[in-house]
Amino acid sequence: MNGYPGFWLILLTVLTTYPFSHGYLNLYLNLQEVQRLLGLGAELYYVRDGNINEYALNFVVPVPSKVDSSQFTWENVAGHPLPYSIDVTANSGALYPPQLNISATGNVPTSTQTFSVSFPCTGFTAAEVMVVIKINISVAQNNVTSLVIKRRKICTKLEEFTGSHVFIDTVPSHSNSTRIFYFAVGAALVMLTILALFVILFYVKNKKERRTVEHNNKPSGSYLSTMPRNAVNFTYNESFRNAPSYSLLDERFKDLQERIAELTVQRCRVRLSSVVMEGTFGRVYLGSYTTENGKEETVIIKTVTDHASEVQISLLLQEGMSMYSLNHKNILSIRRVSIEDHTAPFLLFPYKCTKNLKTFLQKCKLSPEGVSHTLTTQEVVDMALQVIHGLSYLHKKHLLHKDLAARNCVVDDKLKVQIADNALSRDLFPSDYHCLGDNENRPVKWLAIESLQHKTFSTSSDIWSFGVLLWELTTLAQQPYIEIDPFEMSAYLKDGYRLAQPINCPDELFAVMAYCWAMSADERPTLNQLQVCLEEFYTQLTRYV
Ligand SMILES: *[C@@H]1O[C@H](CO)[C@@H](O)[C@H](O)[C@H]1NC(C)=O
Ligand SMILES: *[C@@H]1O[C@H](CO)[C@@H](O)[C@H](O)[C@H]1NC(C)=O
Ligand SMILES: *[C@@H]1O[C@H](CO)[C@@H](O)[C@H](O)[C@H]1NC(C)=O
Repeated sequence: MNGYPGFWLILLTVLTTYPFSHGYLNLYLNLQEVQRLLGLGAELYYVRDGNINEYALNFVVPVPSKVDSSQFTWENVAGHPLPYSIDVTANSGALYPPQLNISATGNVPTSTQTFSVSFPCTGFTAAEVMVVIKINISVAQNNVTSLVIKRRKICTKLEEFTGSHVFIDTVPSHSNSTRIFYFAVGAALVMLTILALFVILFYVKNKKERRTVEHNNKPSGSYLSTMPRNAVNFTYNESFRNAPSYSLLDERFKDLQERIAELTVQRCRVRLSSVVMEGTFGRVYLGSYTTENGKEETVIIKTVTDHASEVQISLLLQEGMSMYSLNHKNILSIRRVSIEDHTAPFLLFPYKCTKNLKTFLQKCKLSPEGVSHTLTTQEVVDMALQVIHGLSYLHKKHLLHKDLAARNCVVDDKLKVQIADNALSRDLFPSDYHCLGDNENRPVKWLAIESLQHKTFSTSSDIWSFGVLLWELTTLAQQPYIEIDPFEMSAYLKDGYRLAQPINCPDELFAVMAYCWAMSADERPTLNQLQVCLEEFYTQLTRYV
């Protein structure tokens, strides 16, 4: 599948392992469980052949209110007994005390066994509760490995209980015993409660942030989105005009024309030198631009040929201006525009030996081993982190990208990555976009399921696309879902299928991608969580180099 062995060789040599002594053990979520929790068709390993996947352990998997338990599958393949002890805690009156269907101590079974931790909600209060599952496994005498797995259980208040004092008073048996149970645990619990509160607050805060961004972006669609096909005149962009939420936001949303005026330079200051990329009507040139004080700057120029239609020209301006006035090292922001009558506009972007990321990755794959640059896992993770920084900045500015992909990023010789706009991408990368019968050319294979089905976008749909971008980084820009018909994508995703783990892609990285593709937007990680997780993985990798 992957034509370039050198890359995977490098991946293999730096692949981090967390040896679990000589006690070989598998502990994972089986297909049904992953399907139930995340809507994916995959197995997720916490421990595979004795190697602990810290990154999977660190993900606090949310459990929807309708799911009352978590199931784990494990197996001892060590050839000698592995004694375990297991304990589950959940410190909230919103849950009945958790129950296990295996004994609290024993030996890990030598054949595959699934056990279940059940933690039904009481229904009295709505809460998000941390369920902490601790498993100690003795791999040798006086040598115990501890695994901590967390679940964030979401409890909703049952309708029948609201306002019904009588009912609550007559059902004290459980809540009372719960209370007694908790009092008995005493001071330790206070600590735990405080901790859990922090955790819950953290999530609530995160959620709130996410909601705010969604709120600001969702109703009107699109800052970075594609313009309606029929809006020929670029000064009449409905998505800017009719969006009350935007009026609260700063001068970013003043008319496109005003913005263009601000950046306009005379055509005589711009010189084209060579074509970097060309499509049927789109052209990307390397060139230069002379500033007011006579200094010459190298720039990338996006433009269209004379054959381009008005729609194509206005789309170029619309999309090319989308990163206007942004200032972040991981964002490629437009620098100048040059519009002369009767010619196509020139959009000027700063150039620092940057190349298109997708083309760059594909060249890594094609060039003979040793000659060109090959990517290590560490470099892949570093590049992914840079994208996260850029995307966080966009989201903080209340902007959604909506077309995040390798083709819409640039990279320089030092592997510094910047997120760019998607102007001309449909023309330059036609096989990445598809029309699904509605005359709208969309990046179908990068879209989150809800964007595909309902054209809704949120910070979480950008995170889905980030997962696909991460997959592109680890496959050196293969085409995602190459064998799937674009018309079938929606049904395919709905059935729980996702991109497969690239050959030799570390489990840790694949876990990150898989979480980005959770069926429900709420269950996908936040950018903060992704950042923490990838930074930790990066640190682990540097230890082995
Ligand atoms: C436990 O076993 C592992 C592998 O055999 C070893 O690396 C580690 O040092 C041991 N820990 C203790 C506390 O003996
Ligand atoms: C696991 O071991 C730690 C110390 O090694 C202990 O504090 C904890 O209670 C143990 N947990 C279980 C579930 O046995
Ligand atoms: C525990 O419960 C789960 C789900 O009900 C079941 O699949 C599994 O076989 C049970 N395990 C044991 C050891 O009874």
